[in-house]
Amino acid sequence: MTTTRYFDHVAGTLRTPPARGTRDDRELVRLATLAASSHNTQPWRFRLDTDSITILPDRSRRCPVVDPDDAHLYRSLGCAAENLVHAAAAQGLATDVGYDEPSDAIVVQLRPSDDVLSDALVGAITTRQSTRQPFDGTSLSADELALLERAGTGHGVRALLVTDPSRLSTICDLVARGNTAQLHDNDFRRELVSWIRFNPTAAERSGDGLAGHCSGNPPLPTWLARPLSKLILRAGAQVDRDTTNLRSSAGVAVFVALCDDRPGWIETGRACQRFALQAAVLDVRTAFVNQPIEVLPLRPQLESLLALDGEHAQLAMRFGHGDLAPYSLRRPLDEVIVR
Ligand SMILES: Cc1cc2nc3c(=O)[nH]c(=O)nc-3n(C[C@H](O)[C@H](O)[C@H](O)COP(=O)(O)O)c2cc1C
Repeated sequence: MTTTRYFDHVAGTLRTPPARGTRDDRELVRLATLAASSHNTQPWRFRLDTDSITILPDRSRRCPVVDPDDAHLYRSLGCAAENLVHAAAAQGLATDVGYDEPSDAIVVQLRPSDDVLSDALVGAITTRQSTRQPFDGTSLSADELALLERAGTGHGVRALLVTDPSRLSTICDLVARGNTAQLHDNDFRRELVSWIRFNPTAAERSGDGLAGHCSGNPPLPTWLARPLSKLILRAGAQVDRDTTNLRSSAGVAVFVALCDDRPGWIETGRACQRFALQAAVLDVRTAFVNQPIEVLPLRPQLESLLALDGEHAQLAMRFGHGDLAPYSLRRPLDEVIVR
């Protein structure tokens, strides 16, 4: 297994769009599945219908410790829906996205339209990644920040871009405290370890999870790595790593939403994915730093730092210029398409 094959599997170039008015459903789903998902759980299923694609939650892929209310799960579904919207536009399809409460699913209505134009973000679906490495420390221009801020804004959702050293330093401290709390929690560790793929063979076998090589870690046999995870996943080392990563970043975007419920989580996922796609268009890297949101006692401190007025902090993402890292894997399409 070579890195090149990883890249081909996930980030293969876009296929030629089908003739206008015809739908290539597998390509739509392939591009949707390249979205971000919490722990790369890919907690989705796609049902193909004549006029729509429905994105259903796959509850067998829940993470009850880090995500007890499934907020990350629905944000992940929102990320996939956003990719689907841009992929559909490239096929000349207008979309209407809604959360259907009775079926607890996102329904993406698809309608051929001469008015729909392919947008720049579709090209970034295959290049976007969560880059868990240090960036180069340079700032972004005011124009770049404005484009990102706009992309991260949705229905009832805003991206707040933090670039001043004082608030970045407070966020860095909150991330460190979040890491420490999480990595001293045995249940959190057990759940995290169950999603880590310690070597390329394990990553390819499952097609999901957090592949060590994406974070620059050397490969280890799973039988050795799991019992040694206490040594491998040390809170202090993670704090040092995230501090370095944050100090190398141009800023942190915090996504805040008016509604802290399933529709709000889905909208947040959409806004965050759009932000990451826009960043990729600008050759800007992104990586999540959600610890101050996942560790509940820290969340009010982040919200008060941002002077939120009734909004809820949902996701946090550092951004900046830097090199690409290896891409993470996805499961085969036949595992996620339901008829
Ligand atoms: C809702 C959500 C929460 C996430 N939380 C974290 C996080 O706390 N830390 C992290 O490093 N990555 C986080 N991620 C990123 C995923 O691990 C990543 O999307 C996944 O591994 C797939 O990799 P890719 O984004 O490079 O395609 C999150 C992603 C989503 C959608």
